Order: sequence, then structure tokens, then C-alpha cells
Amino acid sequence: MDKLTVRDIDVTGKRVFMRVDFNVPLEDGKVTDDTRIRAALPTIRYLLSHGARVILASHLGRPDGKVQDGLRLRPVAERLTQLLGRNVPVTGDALGIGTVDAVKRLRNGEALLLENLRFHAEEEKNDPAFAQQLADYAEIYVNDAFGTAHRAHASTVGIAEILPPYAGFLMEREIQMLSKLLEAPEHPFAAIVGGAKISGKLKVLDHLLSKVDLLVLGGGMANTFLLAQGKSIGKSLAEHDMVEEARRVLADAERKGVRIILPVDVIVAKEVTRGTEYKTLNAEKIPASWHIVDVGEETRVLMEEALADAKTVFWNGPLGVFEIPSFAHGTKAIARFLADRAQAGATVVVGGGDSVAAIEQQGLADQFTHISTGGGASLEFLEGRTLPGIAVLQDRPDDMPPAKPEPASAGAR
Ligand code: 3PG
Repeated sequence: MDKLTVRDIDVTGKRVFMRVDFNVPLEDGKVTDDTRIRAALPTIRYLLSHGARVILASHLGRPDGKVQDGLRLRPVAERLTQLLGRNVPVTGDALGIGTVDAVKRLRNGEALLLENLRFHAEEEKNDPAFAQQLADYAEIYVNDAFGTAHRAHASTVGIAEILPPYAGFLMEREIQMLSKLLEAPEHPFAAIVGGAKISGKLKVLDHLLSKVDLLVLGGGMANTFLLAQGKSIGKSLAEHDMVEEARRVLADAERKGVRIILPVDVIVAKEVTRGTEYKTLNAEKIPASWHIVDVGEETRVLMEEALADAKTVFWNGPLGVFEIPSFAHGTKAIARFLADRAQAGATVVVGGGDSVAAIEQQGLADQFTHISTGGGASLEFLEGRTLPGIAVLQDRPDDMPPAKPEPASAGAR
């Protein structure tokens, strides 16, 4: 699924519309996690150093087509300016005469950032006239917004049907790393899937079952599997309407010869809050008034033994209530263990969300093979679905010579 990238076109003096995913967390007007901004830097730097005039565009949050001051992109532009070491102004609106003028005034090697695209309802509707207005800014379209590739919006699909579309380095790396998991994983291949709910992850579990040798389940979703095995889980979070599906997944795994690891011991708490009473119990029979909040030590050892010889690992979702430090031990331990495995040569790919937070908090991000910038997008990709923002990019013809290697820092976090 190789795509043409920015390396395949002469961008000098050209106006390039670059879709980025700068949907980052903000607090008190400051970016609290700039991972997605840093991940787009290699492509931005490449375009600027090759003399392109770069129009950056992103959404932030879900303002539903209305201007919301708390979702303006100014803090993002400020952080980007710091990281790039050159000024990146943000326009007052994605459209309008002022923005058209600002785009016209861009010189070679300069960039600006359009205001939040989702202040216009037409963006999420993939409105053709809105897509055309965005396309009018530029001659080339570059998509580096892997995190938004599962959305068929005006800035991810509509515009790419008007301007010649190319992938940025981040998009290229995400496609390569996630495709490798589905198409050519080195075995043994293990998936670790945690997080609160099965419902959002059922399709990915189904698809991965035909690829992996080992499936490790943790977090709230494992409780539903424990129920499916006839165990009692007390007051723990579970999806009672998904027990049948969980049973089906377990049966399917058995048929396919995929080993499943579920918690054998768990940390249980009186309440799911800080400072509450907690203890370790065998996962067979949890008393009625307790909540499962993390995996226990025995489970951690079992998981690590099973994962020790894995050559490929995909991890998505925490193994416990990660937001509460006392119940984050299982998630943090698996993050450290996987970082070691990656350093020992295994391919370890992490999908977005709280698993990434566990890695970041421990300063382990550089040690993994790849940490996807897409939460929903990486899961949909691993479900085997075609993401609209990727499908619309130009495929690299088979007889085209391979592109030159990407800059050393591209895709690195
Ligand atoms: C994300 O954070 O997953 C992407 O930026 C997509 O955002 P959305 O779910 O609001 O479309």
C-alpha cells in the first residue's frame, strides 16, 4: 500500500496545503501533550527547507461547526513556532478574505496555520464547495494527519480529490508500520488489548485473531471475558450485553489455536477512587462489593513469560484504572517490559490513548518501534478497514523506483 510522498514531487515555490492532526490536549491555553505536533515536524521542515509555501490545517476538538474560543488553534501555533524555531501565524478563520490574502503573501519557506477547520460545519460534511475553497489556496495537497485518516472530511478527502495528493512522512510511517503488523508480522505475534470496553474493540479483536499467536486481555474489557468464563467479578465494570460476544471470541481463539491470557489475579478496590481500600485477590471469584481495578503480580509474571519470545507485539489500552496511580502498576509494568523487548529487537507497536500516556510518563517513548499518533485511526486500520484519508492518496506505481529514504528524524517521536 505504498503511497506517493512529498519526496516524489518538486515543491519549490509551490503552495502546499498540508493537513495535520493537531488535535492535542490543552489546559489553561497551553498544549499539554505536543506529541502530534512533533510528529508532523519532519514533513513541515522538509517542505519549508525545499522552498514550499505551507498552509497547515487541522481540527481541534469537536466544536460542531461553531466558533468556540477554547478550541482556537493559537496555543498550537505558539507551540509549533517554538518547536520549529520560526514564526507560524494562525489565521482568524480558515476562510475569508484576510486568510486568502495571508496565503497570497506567503513566501518560499514560510508557513501559516489556518484556524480550526471544524468551526465550519462543512468540514465534517465533506462539503464540495468548502473543499474547493480550501483547494483554492494551494497547488499540492499533503496529508500527514494519520490520526484523522478514518474521517471522510473536506480536508482529508474532498480536497484530495481536487489537488494532487501526497503523503507526508508521518502518514507514510504509520501506514508502513501498521501494514507490517497485518501483512508480514514476524512470529510469534502477540496483541495486548486493554481499556474499558470490548464494544469499541470487538472488530479489531476479530481481525487480529486471524493474525496473532497470543492475545493478552486486560483492563475493564477483560472483566467481560471473565464473566464469559463464568467467573464472578463483583461490582467491576463490565458490558453484560457483550458476554456472548466475548464467549464467541474465546471460542474463535481456541479454534484458531490462539493462546488467550486473561488475569489470574487482580487488584480489587472498595471504590474506584484515590485513597480507597484495595487488595489482591484470585480472579476466580470476586466478592460482590469489590471492583477489579488492575492486574495482579501473578498475572503480570504470566503475561511477561508468555510475551518473552514474541517477535512482534501490538499494544492498545491500559490494563487497569490507569488514571489512579495505585491502579496503574500493571499498565506501567507492561510498558517497561515492552520497551525492553523492543530494545532487544522485537517490533513493538503501540496504538494511541492511555497506553501512550503510560509510556510517556516513564520517559520510554524513544524505546518503542512505533507509537501511533492515531487512536481511532490505528484501530480501524487494524480492523482491516480502508481508511478514506489513505485511500484517496495516490498509490505508488509498481514500476516506480523506490523513494529516497526519509530524513533521519521522520516519524520518530
Ligand atoms: C483523534 O484525536 O482521534 C483524531 O484527531 C480524530 O478526532 P475525532 O474523533 O474528533 O474525529
